[in-house]
Amino acid sequence: MMTTDRSDVQRGRDVEIGSTIVGLGRYAPARVLTNAELAGTVETSDEWIRERTGVEERRIAAPGEASSDLGYEAAREAMRAAGVTAAQIDLIVVATTTPDMVFPNVACLLQQRLGARTVGCLDVSTACSSFVYGLSVAHGAIASRQAETVLVVGTETLSRITNWRDRSTCVLFGDSAGAAVLRPAKAGWGFLSFHLGGDGRGGEALTLRAGGSRRPASQETVQRGDHYISMNGPEVYQFAVRTIPAAATEALRRARLEPKDVDFVIPHQANIRIIESAARRMRVPLEKFFINVQRYGNTSAASIPVALYEAVQQGRVEEGQLGVLVTFGAGYTWAACAIRWGGAA
Ligand code: ACO
Repeated sequence: MMTTDRSDVQRGRDVEIGSTIVGLGRYAPARVLTNAELAGTVETSDEWIRERTGVEERRIAAPGEASSDLGYEAAREAMRAAGVTAAQIDLIVVATTTPDMVFPNVACLLQQRLGARTVGCLDVSTACSSFVYGLSVAHGAIASRQAETVLVVGTETLSRITNWRDRSTCVLFGDSAGAAVLRPAKAGWGFLSFHLGGDGRGGEALTLRAGGSRRPASQETVQRGDHYISMNGPEVYQFAVRTIPAAATEALRRARLEPKDVDFVIPHQANIRIIESAARRMRVPLEKFFINVQRYGNTSAASIPVALYEAVQQGRVEEGQLGVLVTFGAGYTWAACAIRWGGAA
């Protein structure tokens, strides 16, 4: 690898450019919904939810609070942490399954609200894999010199598509947002590899059936509850326990690393049992896996950036350490990346 310095980037010289995260942000709605409260509305118990999922509580967006509102707060914090103004942003990527509306996309809503220039604005929709997919888009834009500073936001209001009478799904999900600012990295730092995957055969196992062009919203779709998450839990579980270790290992292999080399793993926070199983299969000590599913539940595209933010805050991810971010989601989709933390050019 050649070394990259800022003057090379500006002149667009023929050098390899990496990217790294230079600032992180998070926003969690104030309302906390506990397992005990849920047990008062559906036939479940705090004990069942903790044992089967690890979740103890989740955040719920206030009435009128949409995904762009959560994402805005997280983006502002990430930009402050990065020391980047709205005028410096060259591309806005938003990862979400719950956009404010079908269009305009959330990235455009954020561009206007942040006061960013009229730069490229795109939403990435690969369910819980969306944030790592979004990082890959951002990395590619920096590597190909389309952008120098990219804002990637993962934001979800899953409470709006959750059937609160379905105990098999409503105990799992929550609302939150996380954001990252990416800039060029020194050689050998920041993102070292990406591995993205998709397999449409898993489509039926986790889906929101209506509201798209196949089945537009109608009285019938509303009555049938087809605007809520529909999930075959055990099938998704089986997919997840196979996919998380395989995807993480493949991202590491592409970076010429092995599971034993990693200092930290930031897994998608869907279920503590899935994370424990991944640790066993990868033969990486569970202590290296960051876990905060107990306080947020599964926040889909927000899960990885919120976990990464907290891991950094708690000193679990430090300058120079090697790690992997790994996630899976509806589609099916999956995504993983290897990273050496820090190293802004
Ligand atoms: N409280 C009490 N009992 C419950 C609950 C509940 N909340 N939910 C289900 N049960 C019951 C079931 O009815 C079943 O009862 P039965 O044996 O009498 O039929 C029993 O508990 C076991 O049900 P399972 O579904 O087999 O339970 P399992 O151990 O598989 O756990 C869970 C269910 C937690 C959903 C698990 O399958 C899972 O985590 N799957 C993965 C889900 C996931 O990660 N989804 C997100 C994907 S990412 C994205 O893109 C959104």
